[in-house]
Amino acid sequence: MTQHLTVVDHPLVQHKLTLMREADTSTNSFRRLLREISLLLAYEVTREMEMTTKTIQTPLCEMDAPVIAGKKMALVSILRAGNGLMDGILELIPAARVGFIGLYRDEETLQPVEYYNKLPQNMEDRLTIVVDPMLATGNSSVAAIDMVKKSGATDIRFLCLLASPEGVARMKEAHPDVPIITASLDERLNEQGYIVPGLGDAGDRMFGTK
Ligand code: URA
Repeated sequence: MTQHLTVVDHPLVQHKLTLMREADTSTNSFRRLLREISLLLAYEVTREMEMTTKTIQTPLCEMDAPVIAGKKMALVSILRAGNGLMDGILELIPAARVGFIGLYRDEETLQPVEYYNKLPQNMEDRLTIVVDPMLATGNSSVAAIDMVKKSGATDIRFLCLLASPEGVARMKEAHPDVPIITASLDERLNEQGYIVPGLGDAGDRMFGTK
């Protein structure tokens, strides 16, 4: 994958995203839409997976048919909102190993601090997809990818639902080798670090918290 930012502008993705943005969409619907959209985004993020062929027998003849080359995969969720995006992807790629990264924001330095880090083994051999619905300031995404790289991963993609221009720029500066796949590049961040127009707090909307 060569492009640094891919916006998935498929009509189904865009339609579902609009429903998710609406303030009066229920938790139940939000969760269902997120799962559906994650399947569509998984399709895009795996588009350039390495392929090989295997010889099979159809009812008519033998053929060399395409199959995924079998590179191991790791999905890494940035807690807690990443889990909502990850669930759907796991349905499509059930053999993937799963990692979790937990970060909180130090209120004085405003920098992300690690509180949880559990990654699969042999990360150097895996295509790694880091997932977080919101690429806002980019601070937690950059920190999570630092951690993933420290574990040995080199082939990394970042998947989100919404990205801000500020977050994309921060990622490009820190991790130019990590392509970003998103459903939308929104206008900006507000003073509180929310993406505008955005969809609010993804974790709260997904889990029904406040
Ligand atoms: N995290 C969210 O959940 N929403 C935003 O708009 C920004 C960060």
